[in-house]
Amino acid sequence: MSKKDKIVYQIYPKSYQDSNHDGWGDIQGVISRLDYLKELGINYIWFNPMIVSPQRDNGYDVADYRNFDPRYGTMEDFEELASEAKKRGIDIMFDMVFNHTSTEHEWFKRALAGEEKYKNYYIWKKGKAPGVPPNNWQSKFAGSAWEYVEKFDEWYLHLFDVTQADLNWENPEVRKECADIVNFWRSKGVHGFRFDVINLISKSGYDDDPNEYDGRQFYTDGPREHEFLKELNRNSFGQDEDHLTVGEMSSTTIANCVGYAGEDSNELDMVFSFHHLKVDYKNQMKWELQDPDIMALKRLLTQWQLGMQEKNAWNALFWNCHDQPRSVSRFGNDKEYRKESAKMLAAAIHMLRGTPYIYQGEEIGMPNAYFTDIHEYVDVESTNIYDVLLKEGKSEEEVLHILQERSRDNARTPMQWDDTENAGFSDVTPWLRTAGSYKEVNVKDTLKDPDSIFRFYQELIRMRKEMPVVQEGLFRPLLEDHEKVFAYERKYGDESLICINNFFGEETEAELPLEGYEILLSNYKDAVLADRIVLRPYETIIAYKK
Ligand code: GLC
Repeated sequence: MSKKDKIVYQIYPKSYQDSNHDGWGDIQGVISRLDYLKELGINYIWFNPMIVSPQRDNGYDVADYRNFDPRYGTMEDFEELASEAKKRGIDIMFDMVFNHTSTEHEWFKRALAGEEKYKNYYIWKKGKAPGVPPNNWQSKFAGSAWEYVEKFDEWYLHLFDVTQADLNWENPEVRKECADIVNFWRSKGVHGFRFDVINLISKSGYDDDPNEYDGRQFYTDGPREHEFLKELNRNSFGQDEDHLTVGEMSSTTIANCVGYAGEDSNELDMVFSFHHLKVDYKNQMKWELQDPDIMALKRLLTQWQLGMQEKNAWNALFWNCHDQPRSVSRFGNDKEYRKESAKMLAAAIHMLRGTPYIYQGEEIGMPNAYFTDIHEYVDVESTNIYDVLLKEGKSEEEVLHILQERSRDNARTPMQWDDTENAGFSDVTPWLRTAGSYKEVNVKDTLKDPDSIFRFYQELIRMRKEMPVVQEGLFRPLLEDHEKVFAYERKYGDESLICINNFFGEETEAELPLEGYEILLSNYKDAVLADRIVLRPYETIIAYKK
């Protein structure tokens, strides 16, 4: 199965490389960096949306599904990119945002103009009383999930920003439009697709959430979800032998994901789930800080590995993406042990069963942006929550600290290519400020260092491409009660691979039967194997026996 030797690299195009001096990344910029990606060894690139959008949510508010935003380039640029990538053994994955469109999309404009056909593309309800929305559901970007339109005396649903109106998947015409869009990109040679928040498309009941929560129980993993995905598969990408698909699943369950990404369920190839990235949310609240709960992290990763494996389903493996703060700042130590902890995190995730995703800059250990002024933030979620938290009575200092830890802009700052102004991303002021770390953390210096995080990623990637035990091996947790170490075995025939990871900046002991094993990779040069090992700060060891 082709997905098993894939390593996907995620590019946030707006921040990768500017080639035409406007402070925005673009397609030609990416083309100029393909040799770098080839050297890293990845074989797929997922691009965040580059199509026409007012950019209220950086491309996740789509105004036209079939044309590039000219700031990224043209269809010809894309064709060049695809062919240059192919020459380097790299395929392309596009982001399909089908839960909602921008209110600037022609469909929504025609809906507002009163065309019944297009009105039915969206979700409209009467309010409970004048000025009172249909129910108490909350937008994921703060505030009510409903917006009133006087002309119809109705409200439309927007689970995200008010400019992102939810599509009505109950309408077969909407489902056909979405399949047609996938087919359009297939005809352009794209065979990889990432489906944005795709487990939110089947809504059920529009009652108040009695838990006074946000309503997610009514629209997450809804009743027709699997049916819709099977239909989309059948009518579009499923017609290609060599497709690669991943669904972004919000607040989902293993029980649902074994269907979404089951070997024979004819839905998707794999899923992103996020539970392991909430272990530093206090009481499950994103804007309340706590140190990561490593026992919870171990438990969740283990449950998802075992739960998916048992039903022959497949996980996407990741710490980072454009919506998450940088993992080295979050689960590692981006100061004293930046290199050690970045490598440890990489090994811990890459040796699991599933397909690894690397987010741009992760391979050089880019830390959080640590902005100190609200005006440095662009992300709509961050600027919305800033106001909400201040209203709730938090001090500005507290709120800025929360954003330093949690804002999505931590991931979105320009890629750090070198130590010149704007980090080699652009020669003019970028759309989002460059993070201050670029002088110490950049590609140019990294490539000179034989012991770099980049070289470590290269090794992990090589191992996945070459070793059946990494591609296929069965996962088994080890040291489940150890409070500091996440360790597991992958087993394939008579081959065994053990990955041992110290998640803390202090020494810790671990007992494992390692007789006959040899070290394949470690972040300490003088790592040794023994039945009782003393692991140094953030030490990782990948051991192998045949
Ligand atoms: C997904 C995207 C995120 C976007 C949201 C709404 O979570 O990854 O960036 O804001 O969906 O489309």
